[in-house]
Order: sequence, then structure tokens, then C-alpha cells
Amino acid sequence: MTGQSVLIIGSGGREHALAWALARSQHVSQIFVAPGNGGTTWPAALGIAASTSISIEAKETSKLVEFASQQGVGLVVIGPEQPLADGIVDAFQIAHLPVFGPTQVAAQLESSKAFSKEFMLAHGIPTAEFAAFEDIHQARKWLQTFDRPVVVKADGLAAGKGVIICDTPDETDNALQLILETHQFGAAGNRVVIEERLTGKEFSVLAFSDGKTIAPMLVARDHKRALDGDQGLNTGGMGAFAPTSDITPQQIEAICRQILQPTIDGMAAQGTPYVGVLYAGLMQTADGMRVLEFNCRFGDPETQVILPLLETDLYEVLLACVQGRLHEIGLCWKDASCATVVLASGGYPQNYTTGLPITGLENVDKSVMVFHAGTTLQSGQPVTAGGRVLAVTAVGPTLDAALQQAYRAVNKIHFDGMHFRHDIGKGVDS
Ligand code: AMP
Ligand code: GLY
Repeated sequence: MTGQSVLIIGSGGREHALAWALARSQHVSQIFVAPGNGGTTWPAALGIAASTSISIEAKETSKLVEFASQQGVGLVVIGPEQPLADGIVDAFQIAHLPVFGPTQVAAQLESSKAFSKEFMLAHGIPTAEFAAFEDIHQARKWLQTFDRPVVVKADGLAAGKGVIICDTPDETDNALQLILETHQFGAAGNRVVIEERLTGKEFSVLAFSDGKTIAPMLVARDHKRALDGDQGLNTGGMGAFAPTSDITPQQIEAICRQILQPTIDGMAAQGTPYVGVLYAGLMQTADGMRVLEFNCRFGDPETQVILPLLETDLYEVLLACVQGRLHEIGLCWKDASCATVVLASGGYPQNYTTGLPITGLENVDKSVMVFHAGTTLQSGQPVTAGGRVLAVTAVGPTLDAALQQAYRAVNKIHFDGMHFRHDIGKGVDS
């Protein structure tokens, strides 16, 4: 099984990290990333497969299927949630191409919060109390009977912005109006989920699944707020580190037994087996562990710190998931730490300019992995093309060593307006 090619769908730091890891597989000789970014093209080198960005967008499903068929790819890997929610896996399956990711119905665990909550309720998976509504009057009526603080969520995908934490009844009503009447989130807000507001420490656990078996990954923590000290607006993630020291192997085992395995078993029992990465956003409350949400894909930037620590050949793991034989694989992890610092465009997560030259990359130590996210090449030179521009990533024997190396590299890179957090891996935020 030598010399396979792999197609990765997506354009962020997560997809660059996937390409980086798959290029190191002994089975892979060529990677394609569609559409990729300024960092996802490189030539083959000793023990590393070549990678090429191809100009097909993630939403151009039929073109992607045609490309993969023509190339005879050995594996297709889907990065972001939107194509999964749109049914891209089903399209590859119809064409008999091996594809890693959940089908459209299975991806509803992320793409519909109402589906996900009802699923958890039906399968005894611990989560916050909730109700779902399409009609604002019904929602208001229910709220009169529910006298605890709530969180209001748009049902569908809203780029991480569809969750509104409400402190007062007025805020709750405003949130309902924003979603159901003003249609702030478009069709994603045709329905709302109102949930009991929980308190506790948050963390995420990601696991591979083949539809029957699960294999948890090392636990990573990301930093969601834009500014140091957990201040500023929510972002897609300003940095991450792995492994975290505050979650024990016993807790992971309990999460697998009480949450992840029952989810996979429940999806199989419903006739919609879940293959791909199951990402559970969890909260440790005074009453036990609760699921806040499921994502149906690798995290970004969690992937950038998880994959550099994976010793097992990633292609073998993903193919085993697709072929329903994950039980044959034992995941091995490096006894080390990994940290990533995201360099963002000035103004992100709000408005920012693009097309700014990125300099200094050639001065970065070769052992540091600079995963590109929002970049593109102009006359061969990298320029900014998105909010999160680069994820500067280092592995070290300790978290401190990894952080020092990553920050040393950050100081060598420049683009106008560049901002980043100085406290990745410090404190307790999530
Ligand atoms: P979600 O996209 O559902 O994970 O929500 C995004 C963020 O909102 C989470 O990371 C939590 O910080 C917060 N959140 C979501 N649901 C709840 C809840 N029921 N209680 C308290 N905070 C929540
Ligand atoms: N870093 C959060 C996510 O990927 O959803």
C-alpha cells in the first residue's frame, strides 16, 4: 500500500496541520488540499510527500468528487463543518471514494442543536435541560415556567456566533427576537434552543470513530477570547496547547464510557453510524459532566497541537475509521507538549484588511511548524488573506519549553497589524 494520494478539503490551519501529518505517512506520496492556502503547497522531500493546493472551493462538491475520481485518491478528509452539513461525505460515498467524516444526517450532531439535544435526551447523555421552538410566543410561554438562567442558541451553524448567554429576562427576549424575528443568523435561526445555563470548568475531548469504536485523542485546550487575560471578543481560537494536565486518565475513561461511546452507539442504533472525529465540548458542573455541544470535525486550532504529538501514522488511523476497523489501531502519543500561537489580522475577529505581506518566515527555526491559515501567495510571496493568519506551533519536552520556542518564532514574523495573545498555555481560561 505505497504511494497513495490524499485529498483534504478546507483552507485553514487545521487543514495545513492535517496535510503536514499525512505527508509524513509511509503510505502517502501526494497530498492535494482544496482550496488550501499559502502554506499547503510544497515539494516532496525525504520521508515527506509533496502537497499541492488546488483551486476548487470546499462547496464545489461535484468538482471535488470528479477531481478525486480522476486522481484515484486513496482517502478524502473533510476539515470544516459546513461541507459536512451540506452532505459532501454522502457525495463521495456515492462515488465509492473512501472519505473520512460523518454523513449529512450524522453531522446533524453539530449542524442542528435541536437534533443534538433531542438525541442526547433519547440516549441518556448528560446535557443541560432544554426546549426548542420555532415560534417566539411558545418560547416566551415556556420561559414563564422556567425560572433559572438560560442560554439561547440558534439551531443551525452560525460560525460560532449563534450562542447568546443571557443575564436578564430582557436579554433573553432580545436574543429570541434577534434569532427568530430579525433573522440575524439567517436560516440557522429558524429554530432556537433555550438551555439551562450551567457553570463549571470547560474542556473539549476529541475522538476518532469508525461508527462502532472510539479512540480518544490527547486533550487539548484552546483560548477563545481575542485578548490576553481572557478579555475581548470570542474568536475561532487564538492558540492552544496539549496535553492539558488538569484532566486525569480516569476522567477521560469516564467521558468515553458515559458520553462518547453512548453517542456512537446511539447513532449506530438510529441507523446513522457516525464516522469521523467526534468533538465534545464539555462542562464539569457541580452535578457532574455535561455536554455543551458536539462538533463533527477536528478542532481548529486544537488539531495543530494534537497531530504533532501523534506517533501513529495518521493515514492508517483515518483509513481504519473509514473501513470500520479502528479496533485494530492503538494510538501512540509522544511524551511531550505542543503549543500553538495564532497570529491574527489587526481588527480580527471584527473587520480587518487582507493582502498584507508576511515577512520573517525564513528566520524561524526549522523545528517550528508555522501552519498557515488565512494566507495566500502573491508572486510566490505569502500575504494575509483571513482573520487567523498563521498558527506558530512548537513541540517541547515540557509545555514551557514548547511555549518558549513558539513565542521565539512569533517574534521573528511580521505583518502590519499582527496581533496575538501573550498568555497561551497560562492561567485557566478556555
Ligand atoms: P456551544 O457552541 O454550544 O459550545 O456554545 C459556545 C459557548 O457558550 C460554550 O463554549 C460555553 O462557554 C457557552 N455555553 C454553551 N452552552 C452553555 C450552557 N448551557 N451553559 C453555560 N454556558 C454555555
Ligand atoms: N477551536 C474551536 C473549534 O474548533 O470549534
